[in-house]
Amino acid sequence: MVNLTIDNKNIQAEEGQTVLEVARQNGIPIPTLCYHESLEPQGACRLCSVEVKDGKGKRSRVVASCLFPVAEGLVVDTKSERVMNVRKTVMQLLLAQAPASLPLLEMAREMGIGPEARFKRKDEGNKCILCRLCVRTCEQIVGVSAIGLSYRGPDKTVGMPFREPSTVCIGCGACAYVCPTGHIEMHTSPSGDVRTIWGRDFKMAACKICGRYFAPVDQLKYISEKTGVPIDDLMVCPSCR
Ligand code: FES
Repeated sequence: MVNLTIDNKNIQAEEGQTVLEVARQNGIPIPTLCYHESLEPQGACRLCSVEVKDGKGKRSRVVASCLFPVAEGLVVDTKSERVMNVRKTVMQLLLAQAPASLPLLEMAREMGIGPEARFKRKDEGNKCILCRLCVRTCEQIVGVSAIGLSYRGPDKTVGMPFREPSTVCIGCGACAYVCPTGHIEMHTSPSGDVRTIWGRDFKMAACKICGRYFAPVDQLKYISEKTGVPIDDLMVCPSCR
């Protein structure tokens, strides 16, 4: 165990934990965009910045709390003026990258930042901050790797290879659920029998007990192949299980 302080609160933490994990465990909020507890942190957005001093009298510095490990004697400040200024600049840069993202605009508003641009905007219609949370979720949690980053420089974008509908995507929608900026659009037909995502339509399976459409057929086939459970046994929605 190590002893540290976060916002003047004495805290004990396990060695190897990050400042973000420990702060959240102790009810201290730190904003994040590219972080998900089921994935390795990658430090892409920098919104989780905090100020740290190592307790040996060294000067403080601003670090990404999702990557920074706790240590004995560490002093963390999550709300200093310096931290707030860094987070505001980070948010303004992200807004310049993805000015059409409503969740981002809402987060910025909560931070006291208006919609006016401080930095030159990349593309007024863009909602993606290239945090790769969707790519890593598809690859590491779903195990499919249907999406990735394509192109370079200002054209860099996340999506299907060559912007063609993917043949390996199973329509699970995990990428859309984790996307923090609303970039990935997923629609369901009025009757619920078709889901559209990444430009492809997926037929939805109906629960054999209640008849409700609940998951794409391709997703159930994928689970069946991976687990060996017959697909018929998977045709039951979460509410009827
Ligand atoms: S949440 Fe830490 S860098 Fe994005």
